[in-house]
Amino acid sequence: MKIFRLFIVAFLSALFLMSCSKDKLQQTEDRQMNAFIDDLMGKMTLEEKLGQLNLPSSGDITTGEARSSDIAEKIRDGKVGGLFNIKSAAKIRDVQKIAVEESRLHIPLIFGMDVIHGYQTVFPIPLGLSCSWDMELIEKSARIAAQEASADGICWTFSPMVDIARDPRWGRIAEGSGEDAYLGSQIAKAMVRGYQGDDLRKNNTIMACVKHFALYGAAEAGRDYNTTDMSRIRMYNEYLPPYKAAVDAGAGSVMVSFNEIDGIPATANKWFITDLLRNQWKFSGFVVTDYTGIFEMIDHGLGDLKTVSALALKAGTDMDMVSEGFLTTLSESLKEGKISEKEIDRACRRVLEAKYRLGLFDDPYKYCDLKRAETEIFTSENRQAAREIAAQSFVLLKNDKQILPLQAKGTIALVGPLADNRENMPGTWSVAADFSKAVSLFDGLKNAVGNQAKIIYAKGANVVDDPELDARVSVFGKPTQWDNRPKNVMIAEAVAAARKADVVIAAVGEPAEMSGECSSRSNIDLPENQRELLEALLATGKPVVMVLFNGRPLSISWEKAHVPAILDVWFGGSEAGDAIADVLFGNVNPSGKLSATFPQNVGQVPIFYNHKNTGRPLAEGKWFQKFRSNYLDVPNDPLYPFGYGLSYTTFEYKNLNLSNPVLTKSGKLTVSVEVANTGNYDGAEVVQLYVRDLVGSVTRPVKELKGFQKIFLKKGESRTVEFTLTEEDLRFYNSNLDFVSEPGEFKVFVGTNSDDVLEAGFVLK
Ligand code: NOJ
Repeated sequence: MKIFRLFIVAFLSALFLMSCSKDKLQQTEDRQMNAFIDDLMGKMTLEEKLGQLNLPSSGDITTGEARSSDIAEKIRDGKVGGLFNIKSAAKIRDVQKIAVEESRLHIPLIFGMDVIHGYQTVFPIPLGLSCSWDMELIEKSARIAAQEASADGICWTFSPMVDIARDPRWGRIAEGSGEDAYLGSQIAKAMVRGYQGDDLRKNNTIMACVKHFALYGAAEAGRDYNTTDMSRIRMYNEYLPPYKAAVDAGAGSVMVSFNEIDGIPATANKWFITDLLRNQWKFSGFVVTDYTGIFEMIDHGLGDLKTVSALALKAGTDMDMVSEGFLTTLSESLKEGKISEKEIDRACRRVLEAKYRLGLFDDPYKYCDLKRAETEIFTSENRQAAREIAAQSFVLLKNDKQILPLQAKGTIALVGPLADNRENMPGTWSVAADFSKAVSLFDGLKNAVGNQAKIIYAKGANVVDDPELDARVSVFGKPTQWDNRPKNVMIAEAVAAARKADVVIAAVGEPAEMSGECSSRSNIDLPENQRELLEALLATGKPVVMVLFNGRPLSISWEKAHVPAILDVWFGGSEAGDAIADVLFGNVNPSGKLSATFPQNVGQVPIFYNHKNTGRPLAEGKWFQKFRSNYLDVPNDPLYPFGYGLSYTTFEYKNLNLSNPVLTKSGKLTVSVEVANTGNYDGAEVVQLYVRDLVGSVTRPVKELKGFQKIFLKKGESRTVEFTLTEEDLRFYNSNLDFVSEPGEFKVFVGTNSDDVLEAGFVLK
């Protein structure tokens, strides 16, 4: 016993010393960095300092108007701090050479890119990835992305995108982790860890940039770049936690959003950038604008370029992406006394610190090893990981009569506009992908069945009927392959194929660029012509499996009512086709769970599980009551709730048990439940825990996710799953924006999705 105690004391002392020496080490490093930067800044002219704040686009990839020309000249003159979206280590090395060898102070550039869900090996779009609820895999995807991007010259990624989104009309819901702040926070941390690893100075880690700070996902009417307006209490409780989680995880940079908040665009919002992000959250990295964020404040109505640039700097923005407002106007503003030199120095220092932390001053070419670019990108190992991760992101929405999994035999009709389209598999924001190497569903099926089954392919429909709309979504090298034949001719061909087959796989939905940036939709149904195709296929009487491609929740009520099996595959990345085949044929049992609610129709939007109760809630089981909160023409229920997703097997939940009916302020409550795999397949299940705070000083949501565990159970196996709740888990921001818990009654729910749960109660004392 004594020895044991001694051991514990020694162990704790060692830990303490280690943490002290870690702190000491950090302090020494910071001192060295500060001395280096003091010395460097001592030599810099005002122009050179402003140059560090300037981030032009390389021109390889643009998402707005290009505003800079003669970039090489500017780099030589010390007027550029970094470049973004330039592809290849060789190009980056050449550009870096200009900065380091031809500019007066030899300051290296920082190279950023939108590495959003993988580099050349592409993982599922973030919304899909989040449906895996698998933090290890998500971190792994970011790690591989960092490995590949850094091998190709990139040291900074504009990711993770952590905007909470509850409006599927907004196309950029595809780029985030859905509607829930708790799940979003876990994912934000996993992504930052994956990109930055344990040491940013290594040559295979890259700096994360949390975006879009903040509330970009709450754009009014789901229209991209639109205004947001929100109470602080909602902001703090429901929208801000994932940004904070990413900052707490050590993200090195933050990108401010396009939208205004409280009437002030985020780019010039001092309360957001300085008071909240820096002072309250202690963020110590640098803040970059979004693409032309400063310039856009002219149209927001805040003044001319000089005025808005000064506002942005004063608010705490450090780097100007594309606008060139800092570069071209700040010296005049300084002369006029509208800004101070201190403010310029502060921003310049933060950019230089990022470069220092990345180790660029030690070796500006550390990411430009052409050998690495040849051997570490799109490797078979990375592609295998992408295939496995993609399969985990798919959500089985319906599977009547166990149509799935399919057997590789007989004749399979493969139809639909997304069945044979490699370019659309990686999804939005896959700027480094080689689309020709992506695996289409057709490829994947052929690989899976070999000569065991016959596949007959027919396109069946265009993605939409309207050629103009088709052209709008057939961009960025992702053609929709518009087919000129009349609709009925295409459908007839698909029906003929279906008649010859034992089963029909209908690959329908949205093409990749129907979601993502500037891809808002006011109608989130499956396009009419694709529905007609489904109707015709179903009329053949053959079993139809709908493989749904989408970058947002869709209102597929008709499809849910009529199609017997629906597998939601989002955009699975470069290996999508093989991953889909893995699931269709049962080599992988689907386990994805929705991270965003599917509405019955667009009129229900915004719809999310963690809503408030209102003073006139509907009675349980009713879908309309006069003078209650509801619609005349549609129930309040979603089509598919948050957390929903089926498996080829079935899981039974029983014996929800709490270790104590009371939780004290310093105590712990163990919530346990027995989960059994009662079906015929081995499979994974995401066990979800929610709570409800029944009485509060402010109204509280009807349910809030507080924990989840992804477990694997063999057929027939059962397991007791345990969660621990503490008082801290029950805290929220009250009307003074204090983060508190309030004693009283709570409900706890555990189940397979946010709707289908077992329930118990406890009291917080
Ligand atoms: C605009 C987008 O809003 C942002 O997410 C992206 O990182 C930048 N363009 C840079 O491409």
